[in-house]
Amino acid sequence: MNLREYLAQQQKLVDAELDRLVPPETTQPETIHRAMRYSLFAGGKRIRPILCMEAARAVSPSVDGVAACACSLELIHTYSLIHDDLPALDNDDYRRGKLTNHKVFGDAMAILAGDALLTIAFQVLAQLSISDDRKTRLIAELSSASGTVGGMIGGQVADLEGEGKPPDAQLLETIHRAKTGALLRASLRMGAIYASASEEQYSALSCYGEHIGLAFQIVDDILDVEESSEALGKTAGKDAAQHKITFPAVYGLEDSRRMAEEECARAHQVLDPFGDRATRLHELADLIVQRKS
Ligand code: IPE
Ligand code: IPE
Ligand code: MG
Ligand code: MG
Ligand code: MG
Repeated sequence: MNLREYLAQQQKLVDAELDRLVPPETTQPETIHRAMRYSLFAGGKRIRPILCMEAARAVSPSVDGVAACACSLELIHTYSLIHDDLPALDNDDYRRGKLTNHKVFGDAMAILAGDALLTIAFQVLAQLSISDDRKTRLIAELSSASGTVGGMIGGQVADLEGEGKPPDAQLLETIHRAKTGALLRASLRMGAIYASASEEQYSALSCYGEHIGLAFQIVDDILDVEESSEALGKTAGKDAAQHKITFPAVYGLEDSRRMAEEECARAHQVLDPFGDRATRLHELADLIVQRKS
């Protein structure tokens, strides 16, 4: 199966699992379920759950039931996007090729839809049929990656407070590792935990996650400069307009591209111990750097 077919298959698997996990639109109160599903099924790339499932497969090819665990990452990610787009944060009108959640449902319902996706993510983990030890580790990893200390929320705070500040290389790396890198690294770590990885396997996958996590946000910054809103499904050129601290702002486009490629090369290296079992992870690292949306 080529990469394109593989991605389509995995995205379908994730969509079916999310559909099973989130209450239908007909469940009361209907508005919140419609708002949650509107953003959840708007056509995200599903890169985090796919990385999680692939990490688990690299450890144990016959791993079973990892899709629900993987979906907890997409639930958190989608909540973070809904809130990122709010007028009080990045104030975006488009996301995943559609109007943003608050443009359709209003600010109050968008805030609550984000809250609800965040809440259900942990409910999904709590309900996994695995050992309590692994379940606790998964919950701890997802909460710290989403949290305020080196996690997504901490990164969002630094991103917002960095607006208009002079571009600073150290602050830039701190922001990117936290706001985007932490959840991507958690995707790999959670797959490893789910599949009962050895300590060596866990740290190799974690290291891979750290490199592709940083590369992912570098590329997101580059695409914001180079691509059109149509291609991205979200408003292009926003970072410069809002004076965000980004890789292109600090290093320029050429060096930013080179740094993303360096992170990608390091990610490839740390997968060596997995041999053929990591073929898809190698492909996914390249995809993260070469993607156009
Ligand atoms: C966009 O993430 C926001 C960042 C963390 C950079 P993605 O590029 O994974 O967005 P979707 O899920 O495919 O819409
Ligand atoms: C958002 O970063 C990261 C999140 C935690 C949601 P950006 O603000 O750069 O993401 P986009 O470009 O709006 O998708
Ligand atoms: Mg933002
Ligand atoms: Mg944004
Ligand atoms: Mg961006």
